[in-house]
Amino acid sequence: MTRRSVTATTDRDRQWWKEAVVYQVYPRSFYDSDGDGVGDLPGVTAKVEYLDDLGVDVVWLCPVYESPNADNGYDISDYRAIMDEFGTMADWETLLDALHEREMRLLMDLVVNHTSDEHEWFQRSRRREDGYEDYYYWRDGSPDEPPNNWGSFMGGSAWTYDEVREQWYLHLFDEKQPDLNWRNADVRDEIASLVEWWLEKGIDGFRIDASNYISKPEGLPDGASGRSPTGVEQFSHGPRVHEYLRELYERTFSNYDVMTVAEMNDTSVELAREYLGESGDGLDMIVHFEHMGVDAGPGGRWDPEGWGEWSLPAFKEIMSRWQRDLGDGWNAPYLGNHDQPRIVSRFGDDGEYRTESAKLLATFLLTSRGTPFVYQGEEIGMTNAEFDGLADLDDPQTVGAIEDLLAAGTVDSYAEVREFVNYVSRDHARTPMQWDDTENAGFTDGDPWFAVNDDYTEVNVADAIADEDSIWHYYRRLIDRRHDADVLVYGDYDLLCPDDEQLYAYTRTLDDEAVLVVLNWSADPAAFEPEDIDVSASSVLISNYDDASARGVRRDYRPYEAVVVEL
Ligand code: NOJ
Repeated sequence: MTRRSVTATTDRDRQWWKEAVVYQVYPRSFYDSDGDGVGDLPGVTAKVEYLDDLGVDVVWLCPVYESPNADNGYDISDYRAIMDEFGTMADWETLLDALHEREMRLLMDLVVNHTSDEHEWFQRSRRREDGYEDYYYWRDGSPDEPPNNWGSFMGGSAWTYDEVREQWYLHLFDEKQPDLNWRNADVRDEIASLVEWWLEKGIDGFRIDASNYISKPEGLPDGASGRSPTGVEQFSHGPRVHEYLRELYERTFSNYDVMTVAEMNDTSVELAREYLGESGDGLDMIVHFEHMGVDAGPGGRWDPEGWGEWSLPAFKEIMSRWQRDLGDGWNAPYLGNHDQPRIVSRFGDDGEYRTESAKLLATFLLTSRGTPFVYQGEEIGMTNAEFDGLADLDDPQTVGAIEDLLAAGTVDSYAEVREFVNYVSRDHARTPMQWDDTENAGFTDGDPWFAVNDDYTEVNVADAIADEDSIWHYYRRLIDRRHDADVLVYGDYDLLCPDDEQLYAYTRTLDDEAVLVVLNWSADPAAFEPEDIDVSASSVLISNYDDASARGVRRDYRPYEAVVVEL
């Protein structure tokens, strides 16, 4: 297997992190090494060889810090300790070493818009201990009337009244995730110091959670109605966000050869450019959400009406804008992650064409400009699960959204949103990784913390590795192709036939190299007859149908057929 050298080059534009393929691990659901039903760090280490075989370069580890798990680790109670369920700091060091031995890198999750309410800072702040009073957003007010109308991403108000301090505190997410007050220089010092602490331990970068929400406007003004959650236009890209991120970059990241990926919901290409590179705040990449909205109803992701339909031209328009218009910035293309449903169920066909469509999605992802992010299980085409009742769900966001709908009288029972939840929930991505067809999909010897998807006897790693034609092998080959072809990493992107409702076709070009990607993103045949592209000397680089070479380029494409040709 070829992997590009992981040393940074002197060429300003050429970077190891641009040439990398990232694999995201949700540790709780990846592999359980000790039979307690919860995935853990030794479990990830046990699978490093597996990840190396797949060919990925960077592992993004979702939070493994100490946490009471109100939001599965995104509520951190100690930034310098490992969650007991996941193991010890020594286990974490073993994982880091195992990755580095194989020339792979480790990206950690940096969750500093908020902490857990069980973090020592919050405990001290709620007791008004000297120096900690202003670590969070505290506001006076009657216990019946929140200080403003902002809503939480987890449903309900963004405010909770604290009986200890007898004040309200702000939490844009769960009530157990109070927002840190970045206006306080001591808070920024603490954050820089913990970032430095992890960088010194030898990690290779951070994915920065909820990064566009860290600055809130003076006076915390009410939000307008019609946006979800209420107030988002006030706290997204707030007045001092650039100052805070730039400062963090200068104090920490800029001194290390690391990659930074900022998660930014509610972001346009224009806004993204302001954060990226030296001319911005020093960030390397932005995870935007525009394409995650294509199948939402008019009221946003949790609107139970009008979801599920999406148009390929609209999707192409979004993706092409990000591919083309980011200037010197760099993309972080993804189709799924731990906050989204399974990609083959959402953007492909998880029935008859599961294999073909999963491979098409892989082709799209790995021929995109930017650093592709593959989420665990995508490489075997894992599908959405079925959740029959509220009790089957774990995700606080899904549960909060349903509770809001019930409270507002929009729906009367779970039965009315069952189909919607089975399409949209974050929980689909969080069912355990399916390693083989034994009990619990080989994820654990114990009782899994979350139910395994029923399809594990058909969809699992062992079977996928045994079958040369599997989705898994296709990912492996695609990753190899990408590592061997600068044009797929650095090449310009040009969209063809923007209005075609079935075909997504584009070229990537770099100097005298050119590649054409043709994707029939539908279950029906589609004719591709480009007029202005010379295909006379083309050869197939990879395809999900094995006879693509013999068929030429100008022709009908079969259901979910994906072909990459060198021109
Ligand atoms: C984004 C994370 O990806 C998500 O899982 C989490 O719930 C929120 N940020 C809050 O940390």
